[in-house]
Amino acid sequence: MANKVLEKQILLEVNKNKLDIKGKDSAFYLRFVDHVETIAELYDELYAHHPGAADNFQGLLHTIARNWKQRKKKLRTRDNEKSKQEYWFLSNEINGMSLYVDRFCGKLNGMSSKLEYLENLGVNFLHLMPVFQSPEHASDGGYAVSDFRKVDSRLGTIDDLISLQKELNEKDMYLMLDIVLNHTSDQHEWAMKAKQGNPQYKDYYYFYPDRTIPDHLDESLPEIFPESSPGNFTYIKECDSWVMTVFHSYQWDLNYRNPRVLVEMLDTIFFYANLGVDVLRIDAPAFIWKQSGTTSQNLPQAHTILRLLKQCVQVAAPGMALLGEAIVAPKEIMKYFGTGDFTAKECDLAYNATQMALQWDMLATGDTRVMLAAQHLLLRKPYGTSWITYTRCHDDIGLGYDDDMISSSGYNPYAHRQFIKDYYSGSYSGSPASGALFSYNPKTGDARISGSLASLCGLEKAIEKKDTAAIEISIQKILMMQAHSFFLGGIPMLFYGDEAGYTNDYSYISDPGKIYDNRWLHRPLIDWKKNKLVNKKGTIEQKVYSGTQKLLALRKKLLMVADTKNLTWMTPHNIHVAGYIRTQHQQRLYCLFNFSGQHLSLTWYAFKEHLYPAPARLYDHWSSVQYEIKNDEQYFVLDPYGFYLLEVVE
Ligand code: GLC
Repeated sequence: MANKVLEKQILLEVNKNKLDIKGKDSAFYLRFVDHVETIAELYDELYAHHPGAADNFQGLLHTIARNWKQRKKKLRTRDNEKSKQEYWFLSNEINGMSLYVDRFCGKLNGMSSKLEYLENLGVNFLHLMPVFQSPEHASDGGYAVSDFRKVDSRLGTIDDLISLQKELNEKDMYLMLDIVLNHTSDQHEWAMKAKQGNPQYKDYYYFYPDRTIPDHLDESLPEIFPESSPGNFTYIKECDSWVMTVFHSYQWDLNYRNPRVLVEMLDTIFFYANLGVDVLRIDAPAFIWKQSGTTSQNLPQAHTILRLLKQCVQVAAPGMALLGEAIVAPKEIMKYFGTGDFTAKECDLAYNATQMALQWDMLATGDTRVMLAAQHLLLRKPYGTSWITYTRCHDDIGLGYDDDMISSSGYNPYAHRQFIKDYYSGSYSGSPASGALFSYNPKTGDARISGSLASLCGLEKAIEKKDTAAIEISIQKILMMQAHSFFLGGIPMLFYGDEAGYTNDYSYISDPGKIYDNRWLHRPLIDWKKNKLVNKKGTIEQKVYSGTQKLLALRKKLLMVADTKNLTWMTPHNIHVAGYIRTQHQQRLYCLFNFSGQHLSLTWYAFKEHLYPAPARLYDHWSSVQYEIKNDEQYFVLDPYGFYLLEVVE
């Protein structure tokens, strides 16, 4: 029960908003009372000494109550339905896709006619890449938002978004949108006012009159886009000051030391929640708190903010899950699920960026050991939270896993990473991949990798050479990479175009708004004539699409792949084979992936050591072949880049 002062504060908001706490708002009121103490504690951790602490706290409570008041009946009902299932987002029946509306189908009102294509594929969870207003030539793909509430006119209107959400809802599909929490565009109203010298709005950002503090901060701040946007500060001539811009120079970092910023952004979060968003993707949460002498990433205060937001969302939009887009070192990623008293009470979901990058590592080396070395950390994910699993997304692939994971496998970390980068950027002779290095930093030698799933799997080169055998191998690699991520646990998130085998798109080079960012290489412009080929037997498009479709259908069918902390890695009898077991009651599914281009053998004993008594038969859901388990000195043979989804059958 909340203390008297807090309860009084809540009641004030209840009355202001005319909430019916004895009737239809009673569950809300109970949640409010239940959470308010924690909300106050977390808030105090950040702002106890701020002169505006008390006023803004009342503002925060008001934001919660007002947004509940505005939450439509339909959404409240959906909240209730979700709360009846234990952690709805752990289900094996959710399959996602991320897409740019303009590059996929032009405008939001064109999405409706494409839903059938997605449904047919097996996708029922849609991540629309940023749809809110963003300056055309300084947008970072929409991640530089100039108005958090106005849909970009190039994509349509807020009404188009609302009717799309309604249609998704009717089809039992889910919607994910982004909140860009860390920064705004320099064209945002707050930034414009700050530029004019308005002190209230200058305090929304980090402004400095000269280079003294920026120079000091730069000593410990890494560079995110060293090629296109070196440094972390930008000179603003209108007010003769420097502003912090960790990403691009047009993305101004918000100052969360100011509680007003927090309350404004919380209100924006509820605005999205009340549009019917099912999962809110919190962009770049690792960066939201800055501290001199540190990298200003993953700081404890960033976690406090996320916990606070989670508590507030839990009160007024409990059906909306939060996804933290923290693409950071594995041990840091894990903390976004919450730690200590807040275990499983921070972000509900996080990207399994470590596993994603390690899949690419395995594909290049054919060796699973570095990936296995990361599992002791990844398996610590608490029950009630889940991953977004993926092979590609709109961003680059960063090799951010730890050096000791590489060295424990017998490799030199520097040389190993260099090999992976060379392999995918095509400079390693004989590599089938055609990607590119992204954000090369000459000071550190770091770089990440751009390129589409198909091109990185060798399809682009194989098509160029008209090499039919190589085309088949790359299709097999594409499907193996997808299968590995679909069954691992977590919501699979396809990236649009990958389902139809899109190779790199080089047109960004002639666009001045994109040329400085080669991530556009793998953000295709959909050509629906090409996509129609998914129905034409024997085409590359059809082979990739139907394979992906089959995998997604299998995922929906196999209950044991729901993410209920039910994964065990198989003992590595063969370092080229990654194998995990998914279990649910008596059911067992062995998922095996051959990351090498050779036929391999695996002792049948591998299937016996985790199960007693030893199973007699295995049924492969992928090939529909049934296997009798043989003696330990005999072998199960895996095809090059083959994968197997073997269920124990009696
Ligand atoms: C996230 C987005 C990325 C963007 C960055 C800055 O990492 O995924 O595309 O550039 O945030 O907003």
